[in-house]
Amino acid sequence: MKITVINGTEIKGCTYHIKEIFLEVLRNHNDIVEFYLPKDLPHFCCGCKTCFFKSEQKCPHAEYVMPIWTSMLDSDLLIFTSPVYALRTTAQMKSLLDHLCVHWMVHRPDEKMFNKQAVILTNAIGVFNGSAQKDIATSLMWLGVSNIKKMGIGLMEGVVWSELSDKRRNSIIRKTKQLAKKYKNARTVHKGIKVTLLFTITRMMHQGVAKKEITLSADNQYWVDKGWIKR
Ligand SMILES: Cc1cc2nc3c(=O)[nH]c(=O)nc-3n(C[C@H](O)[C@H](O)[C@H](O)COP(=O)(O)O)c2cc1C
Repeated sequence: MKITVINGTEIKGCTYHIKEIFLEVLRNHNDIVEFYLPKDLPHFCCGCKTCFFKSEQKCPHAEYVMPIWTSMLDSDLLIFTSPVYALRTTAQMKSLLDHLCVHWMVHRPDEKMFNKQAVILTNAIGVFNGSAQKDIATSLMWLGVSNIKKMGIGLMEGVVWSELSDKRRNSIIRKTKQLAKKYKNARTVHKGIKVTLLFTITRMMHQGVAKKEITLSADNQYWVDKGWIKR
């Protein structure tokens, strides 16, 4: 099984430790590729829209984005990790998600995403992990991932991994390993109802717009080339 891990921070803090505990269960027999943000994508989306109008290959940051996207496409399991910052995911994670908008259903989705599973691992000092997870989950859903599991940890006792009580740390380790065990064996993931519905609606939308276009947009040309809509 191939696994791509997108780390929403470069710090070797709680996020890193929780991710390492998760991966420890999966290390044997799995091919794991990791990206650390912002190191592996040190730029914000500049909003030029070149990806939408022309090609994602022409994105000014394609040299960073394409290896991440290609690795995601080649993987069976996608793992996103993020600390909670201001109740949301980190800016560097959001920056990657912005760069991937071109692959949302409303633009040019890749059908390889329909059969992937994803895990979102977040942690915060408090209990509120939901909005940070949603930042990532929303993008994954629009990218076509049907099977998304979220695990949020409220550290409660402090923000330094080694300073947590043994009891708290052990309970986090137990919970993380328990979840990781569910991903030990590769399994077939089917396109879910939500993703199927989004695809059906966006296909109608692309078909409707394409009919009126004299020259097809890059998005609609892609849908035609895929055989998903008719010219
Ligand atoms: C800039 C910043 C903003 C944060 N915002 C929140 C927050 O809104 N809610 C919360 O519970 N914790 C917040 N935290 C705490 C982190 O989520 C927490 O310390 C987390 O464990 C950091 O992960 P790390 O050790 O991998 O860096 C914030 C931390 C930082 C640095």
